Amino acid sequence: MELLTKNIISQYINDMISMSKQLQGDYWTLEHYQSDMNRKWELSYCEIKDKQLLAFMIVSDKGISHHLHRIVVHENFKGKGVGKKLIQTFMTNAKKEERQATLKVHPSNKQAIDVYEHYGFVKEGSDKENLTYSLKF
Ligand SMILES: CC(C)(COP(=O)(O)OP(=O)(O)OC[C@H]1O[C@@H](n2cnc3c(N)ncnc32)[C@H](O)[C@@H]1OP(=O)(O)O)[C@@H](O)C(=O)NCCC(=O)NCCS
Repeated sequence: MELLTKNIISQYINDMISMSKQLQGDYWTLEHYQSDMNRKWELSYCEIKDKQLLAFMIVSDKGISHHLHRIVVHENFKGKGVGKKLIQTFMTNAKKEERQATLKVHPSNKQAIDVYEHYGFVKEGSDKENLTYSLKF
């Protein structure tokens, strides 16, 4: 696992866009992926093996929480522990800094909801499209 950088995004942008077709909702362009957010470049990670992008997550610091904006594991590598490494890093960093860990997930995304609940995330509510989840330490 390594920190996600603007260089990695430039190199793998087509893979990131294609992997993100698994997600409901927002379509992100290169500009979205490259945009600066508070401490994004310290908190976002990816997994690359043999020059293939297996997974990435984008996290920023929102003051009381570390917020997971996007996590995607390549279709061919789901269910093999890659997401676990990223989610555990997200949780560990939030805990270390005494922040909550927060995220949004589409209500139809049962698999991701099961994974988050497995790690103790609790449903807080919903906005017009997504459920909001948090983990407090
Ligand atoms: C959701 C996602 C990030 C999870 O990553 P993954 O690599 O498939 O998950 P892992 O194999 O690392 O499993 C993570 C943990 O969840 C558990 N798990 C996996 N699928 C599960 C399921 N359907 N129900 C309950 N637990 C499940 C695993 O057993 C593992 O737990 P462990 O730490 O006790 O071993 C990944 O499947 C993905 O990218 N999905 C498509 C994109 C997406 O929906 N992103 C989330 C948007 S909010």
